[in-house]
Amino acid sequence: MCTILPNLNKKNKPNPLIEALIKKLYIQSNLEDNEMLYILDNITQGDLDIMSHYATLMRFKYYDKSIYLRGLVEFSNYCKQGCLYCGISRHNANIDRYRLRMDEILKSVKRGLALGIQTFVLQSGEDPYYTDDKLVEIVKNIKSLNPQCAVTLSVGELSNESYHKLYEAGVERYLLRHEAASPSLYQSLHQGMTLVNRMRCLEEVKAIGYQVGAGFMVGLPHQTNDDLLKDLKFVKNFSPHMCGIGPFICHPNTPLKGNKSGTALQTLVMLGLTRLLLPKVLLPATTALETLDPLGKERAFKFGANVLMPNLTPVIYKNKYELYQNKVLKYNLEEIQNNINKIGYIVDMSRGDHIDFRKEIL
Ligand code: 5AD
Repeated sequence: MCTILPNLNKKNKPNPLIEALIKKLYIQSNLEDNEMLYILDNITQGDLDIMSHYATLMRFKYYDKSIYLRGLVEFSNYCKQGCLYCGISRHNANIDRYRLRMDEILKSVKRGLALGIQTFVLQSGEDPYYTDDKLVEIVKNIKSLNPQCAVTLSVGELSNESYHKLYEAGVERYLLRHEAASPSLYQSLHQGMTLVNRMRCLEEVKAIGYQVGAGFMVGLPHQTNDDLLKDLKFVKNFSPHMCGIGPFICHPNTPLKGNKSGTALQTLVMLGLTRLLLPKVLLPATTALETLDPLGKERAFKFGANVLMPNLTPVIYKNKYELYQNKVLKYNLEEIQNNINKIGYIVDMSRGDHIDFRKEIL
């Protein structure tokens, strides 16, 4: 059972107290715990316009109307970890495992470059086949296609030494969602892993100088508003450069089968609050959100999201990277651009670095 945001199915009139708290959050970029909990416990659909309004004002401060694109290449779905929610964890004996060859990875990146995309996210399960040396070779080959492009890695928990090596090889960004900042919730979902080690990885990656992405799922089984408060407090304190927030989507071939998924509305609320807590954060409209709601991207942009990650994984593999089912796989850049323009935003094909990492052009 999941007990988050218990009033979000109601369509009450706007609550003046919630409006005042959202305004305070906009002005201070922070709230007391009891104030944040009041929002989580009481927010209804009647309060969403106000939240969207202030989240949008906040995103305009640093990122104007830009939506940044990152091309996603899911290069291996082998994983040694056993995260209970994840469709590619080692628990799932029912999927075809694949690894992209070097030429397939480079071809995917070239497809993105031809579309004008300048930043690439290379993601995989935790696959020991990819030693540091193999990853370094991949990154070097990508950079040789276009030295200006930004390479992000998202390959899970590594040693500090590996993070250093990869940074030196030219990887500038690292994505590692913290998944759940509540120690008990984290522990119940991650056999053989610890939140302490997750945090060690995130701290190290940040200290090395990467732009870091953290993030969490919304609507996990047994998740409570207290747990969500912990996620919000963690992102506020850690201040990642990017924060991926998506609904939990229940996968039938995982130990969590039969549980309820999170919802798009819950996710929008968490996006809005995160934008208000972290004015400069890069906030993706996640594929998981779009999977639950065909208009999810557009809605996310109205709650402070400013990044989109079109999937560049070769067609024959991309449905095998099945973290959850019914994943949105089709991306037509022209259509994306049109839809984004229609709601008043602009696709920005530049590298889309976090504002603190931009080199000033005088
Ligand atoms: N539902 C939603 N998100 C999921 N992820 C993994 N499995 C699921 C699922 N069933 C997310 C995790 C991971 C990211 C790559 O995908 O947060 O970090």
